[in-house]
Amino acid sequence: MAAEILPTHTPALFAAAVKVAAKRLRAGEVVALPTETVYGLAANALDEKAVAKIFQIKGRPAHNPIIIHVASNEMAAACVAHWPAEAVKLSHAFWPGPLTLVLPRGKNIPDNVTAGGETVGVRWPSHPFMQAVIRECGFPLAAPSANLSNQISPTNAEHVRGQLADKISLIVDGGQSQVGIESTVLDLTTQPPRVLRPGMIHAESLAAVCGEISDHQSLLSDSTLRSPGLLAKHYSPQAKLLVLDWRDDADLLAQLSTFNFQLSTTHVIAHTKIPAGFPAEKVSVIPHDAEAYARALYGELHRCDAHGATLIVVEAPPETAEWSGIADRLRRAAA
Ligand code: TXA
Ligand code: MG
Repeated sequence: MAAEILPTHTPALFAAAVKVAAKRLRAGEVVALPTETVYGLAANALDEKAVAKIFQIKGRPAHNPIIIHVASNEMAAACVAHWPAEAVKLSHAFWPGPLTLVLPRGKNIPDNVTAGGETVGVRWPSHPFMQAVIRECGFPLAAPSANLSNQISPTNAEHVRGQLADKISLIVDGGQSQVGIESTVLDLTTQPPRVLRPGMIHAESLAAVCGEISDHQSLLSDSTLRSPGLLAKHYSPQAKLLVLDWRDDADLLAQLSTFNFQLSTTHVIAHTKIPAGFPAEKVSVIPHDAEAYARALYGELHRCDAHGATLIVVEAPPETAEWSGIADRLRRAAA
């Protein structure tokens, strides 16, 4: 199978791609679709057999549950057993957008979506194409990121093609993902609600809407693993990745000399301290702005892999709430 890639950059192409994608989804197929966070590998969330194909294509372990994507609050409420007051407030504040709410599962949700658990993650994505397909289908879509298990999530159609072209029949090109890292996952089945995966909607914003939130750090020190996606090793590039802070070139080289590294295949990703002593094509500069940085990060990691980097050195991000989702992904990529 060689995936067909459908463009969406004119209204006519967009409408045609919606029809094709919805038709395949109705037939129980799996297709790659754009979302504002990262591209998703989608199937009818109410069709257990279709969802099983997602696990098979990704090589995803059966114990890792999948997020359900909806296109209205009513559709979200229909996937869960209970739609609590916090969900009303949070959905009002952040949907459509990069926030996944974990709630008690509805009876209609197949076991493989929840990985046999009693909860389900739901999200109303803001990407117009994803919304249009869900509305056209009339059913919610189960979709993990459209990468092979444990690889970097795709933020454009080309990234999806690189990993999955021979495994799926359709990739819809909806442009560059605007957020660039995966959604914040918030568990509303605990009191206080708890951040299972940080993202660009950070704990302080969530707390401003629904009161006390227990953040990701407290979770890391908790021995019970609430979300398999929190396994330390995840989102990894092929190269070894180091997150470092340095004063100047000499300091960077001195720090690197303690590792067994090859300068010719080392790439640097910087946002404030741009090393002058490295060849220009081996240095990526991402703006020092959390949103712009998140949008560009995975693209840079994909690019380093494509160039055969063996070591990626990333300048440490600031330790503020705005950067917490980015810091989390870098920590995992470095694990
Ligand atoms: O932004 C996103 O969330 C993207 C786009 C495609 O929507 N999706 C995504 O899916 O990142 P995935 O499967 O790559 O990551 C979902 C994460 C995993 O860490 C999974 O363990 C966790 O969410 N998760 C899903 N359902 C859960 C549940 N019921 N309870 C706890 N964690 C859950
Ligand atoms: Mg993923």
